[in-house]
Amino acid sequence: AETAMSFMPAELDLDALRAAARCCQACPLHGPATQTVFGQGSPDARLMVIGEQPGDREDIVGQPFVGPAGKLLDEAFRHAGIDRSEIYITNVVKHFKFVETESTGALTGAPHRLHKKPDSREIFACRPWLEAEIAAIRPAAIVCLGATAAQALFGRDFRITRRRGDVIPTEWCMRTLATWHPAAILRMTDEVRREQMLQQLRQDLSTFAIRD
Ligand code: URA
Ligand code: SF4
Repeated sequence: AETAMSFMPAELDLDALRAAARCCQACPLHGPATQTVFGQGSPDARLMVIGEQPGDREDIVGQPFVGPAGKLLDEAFRHAGIDRSEIYITNVVKHFKFVETESTGALTGAPHRLHKKPDSREIFACRPWLEAEIAAIRPAAIVCLGATAAQALFGRDFRITRRRGDVIPTEWCMRTLATWHPAAILRMTDEVRREQMLQQLRQDLSTFAIRD
């Protein structure tokens, strides 16, 4: 089977990478998904934010973090004084993974697409794209949202519950931290805990806010 490397362009140029990733078939996720959702933002970005994988909305629009989790994240960026136009935002896995459920949407009549977590093979298959993005941007700081992104950079033993918010050097970037995934905050049913996680997300993001 072809790996992502066989789709990789020779140059580490974001537009070339994005165009090449459109054709990637290195894992089965490209089949049912609408399109590759590549990272978005300035090649000069000093801050890179990494999520897990596109959701239903992202799959349709073709851009990362434009659905409910993205709305919460945008709000947290505003609180932290971070302008989304100045950062680069991407995901560990570039295609939406889902199962179609029996129930259909009340308005569209289309089957509901239930998000599924990417497995280790899919994460491994997609890794060259993430590494190419990091190499092209060479960010001064990286924020990992959730365990999938955190473990992609810090290794499989990393636990967000233990080291959330700590700035830790990695081979990718000297200033890397992991924090809550906005979708995990949305899923939290305990209101007090949810509010605390939201505050922590804002606080962790503000670690890397550019202030003059
Ligand atoms: N969740 C993610 O991890 N990434 C997105 O782009 C959207 C939701
Ligand atoms: Fe390629 Fe990643 Fe999509 Fe798999 S998820 S087909 S590796 S771009």
